[in-house]
Amino acid sequence: MIRSRIIATGSYAPPKVLTNFDLEKMVETSDEWIISRSGIRERRIAEKNTSTSDLGTQAALRALEMAGLAPEDLDFIITGTNSPDMFFPCTGCFIQAKIGAKKAAAFDVSAGCTSFIHALSLADKFIKEDPSRKVMVLGAEIMSKVTDWTDRGTCVLFGDGAGAIILAGEEGERGILSTHLHSDGALWELLYMPGGGSANPSSHETVDKGMHYIKMAGNQLFKVAVRALADVSQEALKYNRLKSQDIDIMIPHQANTRIIEAAAKLISFPMEKVFLNIEKYGNTSSATIPIAMDEVQREGKVKAGDLMLLCSFGTGVTWGSAVIRW
Ligand code: UT7
Repeated sequence: MIRSRIIATGSYAPPKVLTNFDLEKMVETSDEWIISRSGIRERRIAEKNTSTSDLGTQAALRALEMAGLAPEDLDFIITGTNSPDMFFPCTGCFIQAKIGAKKAAAFDVSAGCTSFIHALSLADKFIKEDPSRKVMVLGAEIMSKVTDWTDRGTCVLFGDGAGAIILAGEEGERGILSTHLHSDGALWELLYMPGGGSANPSSHETVDKGMHYIKMAGNQLFKVAVRALADVSQEALKYNRLKSQDIDIMIPHQANTRIIEAAAKLISFPMEKVFLNIEKYGNTSSATIPIAMDEVQREGKVKAGDLMLLCSFGTGVTWGSAVIRW
């Protein structure tokens, strides 16, 4: 059987660190509140003249280097992002041009923080269609540029970064075993950015009202997120006839340690097998999972044949999972 195997990973986070103590000087908050309510200690912040595709480009180059591939070897570049360089063209086209992947078809996926899982699911289908293809999947974000730095309810949570993986068709048991995708658009008001689109085109008024910033009902989203992560993880296990103990490592979307702990408890999944790096990066939206995949690969926390469970949720509301034999 042909499967889509992850042959390489790469990630990049901008060097500038913003700590909880730095935030104490910007809004009424405390290191103690942020760490105990979210699990975040610090996050990376992109420079003013940097755009999302710049971060994606660095992650892409690192993945290509690990794969030993040239940019021209890529057939597709699928980028999950909620903070694109521009409305159009897509951020993937900028990444394509910056790395020189002349043969690739590039496009973006917008499904909130779950975008990376949606992109991964599409990549799997492209490879099943033609196993000779090499497909790059990215999650890349500069959330700091859509953050209201006076809103303590959101500004302490988000960060910037990018992750990339490369998939190739391979005969055997290793690769993507399943993906499951969901959404409930009726819950859109839990997390959104109202300004700049066709509903509220940019104007002095939209800018004055701060409509170009993230709006979030954090507490309500928290409850939806716990249920979504638990349900989609259980669905993935059931589909693959697996039990929690069969999974070697779970990489959940890193939005809040308490959300992850509550979801793991609901499905009796041991926290020792859950990978967390939210402390260092905060919530980098669609980039949290590919950054974590790169870290576990480079730090030797996964080995060939391990079973990995990815699960995510995000604005929309969207949620999804993937099971991978590494
Ligand atoms: O990728 C998806 C993105 N988003 C999420 O996943 C967010 C999901 N939600 C969360 O992570 C949590 O709801 C938050 C971390 C945002 C908030 O934690 P919470 O335990 O749900 O707190 P809360 O919103 O119920 O607020 C509790 C209190 C409030 O004060 P009062 O009304 O009890 O006096 C807030 O005003 O904490 C206050 N508060 C803060 N205090 C210090 C809210 N933000 C802060 C802050 N520092 N940064």
